[in-house]
Amino acid sequence: MSSEPIKVCLVGCGWIGEEHAKIYKDLQEQGRVEFFVCDVDREKVKIFKEKYNAKGIFLDYYDVLGSSIEVVDICLPHNQHAEATILAANVGKHILLEKPLATSIEEADRIFEGIKDKKIKFMLAENWRFIPTIRVAKEFLDKREIGEPLLIQGNSIQYFVPSGWRRSKSDMGGGVLIDRGIHLIDMLYNLGGEIRSVYALATHKSILEIEGEDTVVLLMNFTTGTIGNITVTWGIKKPLKQSLFVIYGTEGTIWEDSGKVFLLKNNTCEKLYEAMTDNSIREEIFHFIDCITEDKEPLVSFNIARKDLEIATAAYISIQSNETVFLPLKEKKYHVGEEADWI
Ligand SMILES: NC(=O)c1ccc[n+]([C@@H]2O[C@H](COP(=O)([O-])OP(=O)(O)OC[C@H]3O[C@@H](n4cnc5c(N)ncnc54)[C@H](O)[C@@H]3O)[C@@H](O)[C@H]2O)c1
Repeated sequence: MSSEPIKVCLVGCGWIGEEHAKIYKDLQEQGRVEFFVCDVDREKVKIFKEKYNAKGIFLDYYDVLGSSIEVVDICLPHNQHAEATILAANVGKHILLEKPLATSIEEADRIFEGIKDKKIKFMLAENWRFIPTIRVAKEFLDKREIGEPLLIQGNSIQYFVPSGWRRSKSDMGGGVLIDRGIHLIDMLYNLGGEIRSVYALATHKSILEIEGEDTVVLLMNFTTGTIGNITVTWGIKKPLKQSLFVIYGTEGTIWEDSGKVFLLKNNTCEKLYEAMTDNSIREEIFHFIDCITEDKEPLVSFNIARKDLEIATAAYISIQSNETVFLPLKEKKYHVGEEADWI
């Protein structure tokens, strides 16, 4: 294991950037990284430098690319993900990229061309792969504790009025589905495996500040014959408490409730896990730094990231066409922020 601290630059000192910065501050105190920050907003970098003890600042991403920084942690608006990743890969930087991978499959495939054959580590910062409740559920599912899964459900019912770039459909790549919903898509893909087809419906009645949809219901057909559904919305002012996930199997049920995971089987209900705190972003970043120092393959690969995006894209196609959409997608040009050019 390398003992030299790795030079990491956080690119984008916004909402999630701040959560990442807290972790790098700890990693720097442990002597594992040297932490730098980059943002086009001078005030933000100044605040982050002081608050999280960054060693240096950048106001221009091209200066990061030309520097001795070894890792970029990209926390930028969705429409900048592809360009920022390809540029970093071209100069040999390791890349941790916030979800979603990109705003279109075409961009995703350009990212692949950019990172393949490079001696770099790439990981999608999909922190839900590190959420312990989901991990525990998957472990029990894989052990076939509930027999054959029949139905997997995911829910995220919130009230949230986005600001800034999230209001633009093209900057976002859509609405709630590509942003919040991609986490749920990843959760169902993680739990249920490969997906044969999707059907989705969307509406936009509550959060009129955004151009994209505020509410989506997505049905999934897994290749195993298991079925699944996701409900994701930002538009519900008085949300009822919902399980993040429920997995119904032939022999029992596993579900999440307020950070706890339960198993109901043979008329007995057992608590499998109770979370103290959600450390998923901490786990994610520590894991990625370990992958670099120990030359390991990152957990959330490009292929997983692309699959999550492909499922989201198929859902958007279904929303526009009112048809079931089969995977893998044949047409790669579809861009969710544009009019349908996938026909
Ligand atoms: N994992 C999660 O739970 C989670 C939560 C929130 C956001 N995210 C993801 O993180 C990413 C960022 O979202 P956010 O909510 O933090 O956005 P944000 O708007 O809060 O922050 C983005 C920052 O990037 C800066 N920026 C924009 N263009 C730049 C450029 N070219 N160079 C340098 N800085 C630039 C902006 O000034 C801003 O400070 C998105 O991909 C989003 O989906 C993930």
